[in-house]
Amino acid sequence: MAKQLKDWFVPWLFTSREYNVSILDKAWANPGHGRLMLNENPVPPSEKVINAVTQIMKHGNRYPDSFPRLRAKIGKMYGLGPDNVALCNGSSETIDAMMRIFLQPGDEFLLSTPTFELFPPRAELCNAKVVQIPVRKGDLQYDVDGMLNAINDRTKLILIINPNNPTGVFIDDADLERFCETGIPLCVDEAYLDYNPDHPSKAPLIKKYPQVFLSVTFSKAYGFAGVRFGFVLGTEEMIAAFNRMFLPWNVSLMSAAAAEAIIDNPDEVKAKVEHNNRWMAIFAEELKKLGLKPYPANGNYMLIDGTMTGKTTEEILKAAMDMERLYLKKIGEIHGKTGYFRVTPGTDEENERFLKFIRAYFG
Ligand SMILES: Cc1ncc(COP(=O)(O)O)c(C=O)c1O
Repeated sequence: MAKQLKDWFVPWLFTSREYNVSILDKAWANPGHGRLMLNENPVPPSEKVINAVTQIMKHGNRYPDSFPRLRAKIGKMYGLGPDNVALCNGSSETIDAMMRIFLQPGDEFLLSTPTFELFPPRAELCNAKVVQIPVRKGDLQYDVDGMLNAINDRTKLILIINPNNPTGVFIDDADLERFCETGIPLCVDEAYLDYNPDHPSKAPLIKKYPQVFLSVTFSKAYGFAGVRFGFVLGTEEMIAAFNRMFLPWNVSLMSAAAAEAIIDNPDEVKAKVEHNNRWMAIFAEELKKLGLKPYPANGNYMLIDGTMTGKTTEEILKAAMDMERLYLKKIGEIHGKTGYFRVTPGTDEENERFLKFIRAYFG
């Protein structure tokens, strides 16, 4: 009998986990609903950024170069050179490329759980094994010993998100160094670091540990989730590997122009960070007053423990939608308990609705 189409697919194409983005279709179709579920930035790009994109669009018939000036500017922000920077179309592209650079079928990718849910499927699409170690009970910090004990001959790639998503906590420097010392390729994902002006990047680690690389995105504090722009920082050898795996011309002229314009206009990022951090503080205070437990958060999202309220996560999310038309982020059970959810500050108006919701529902 002739093979069916599905028989031609590599077996792991449909057995790997899926990253579900259907919420985005719903959110775009319902612009009045508050988008507090996705770790987006609620502040749109400035006129400076929009003008830069409009200008370069006039050259949209040409293939881009390798953006040496932009790479030099980014490198300088981290005390590195242009060849320590590989540009990409948002750090999801880095996540995908790193799996294909380091993992052969059967190899292991080590990370914690809960995590940013795009990581496991991209490793599984290489037919690699995903090894996830739960964060510690109580403080939800990385279980460093648990992770280090899980290393074996097949472990080819490790991930540390710093600060972590969705828990919001930073790993201690000494603990991070223990992962570096293993000699195994290590991705330090700094997607949310820009919300913490007092925390320097871990980029200097690459000088001591050539197998370490950093993943950075402009989707968060810079507010470019829809523009799509990110980069990898690493040794020249590491960057050459990423550039080989990334498609040529992966970054459009428009994304690169937007990135350069916002780098040249740091006050824009500062204002976005201030908006976020001001609202995070207000949310934390209100939630505590209502008897819930917001985790100390260092990004643009706050993990909230509502297990003591007796409500399930599903009930809380449904009530937020029914009462105030707000999307919140579903967090699966942690250590067997339901009632966790996550919120990202939105516009002032959306945030007021969130406060109204929590006071009415939990008050
Ligand atoms: C830890 C982490 N890394 C990477 C990403 C992907 O970001 P992007 O592809 O928009 O750069 C996210 C998105 O939420 C994230 O939370």
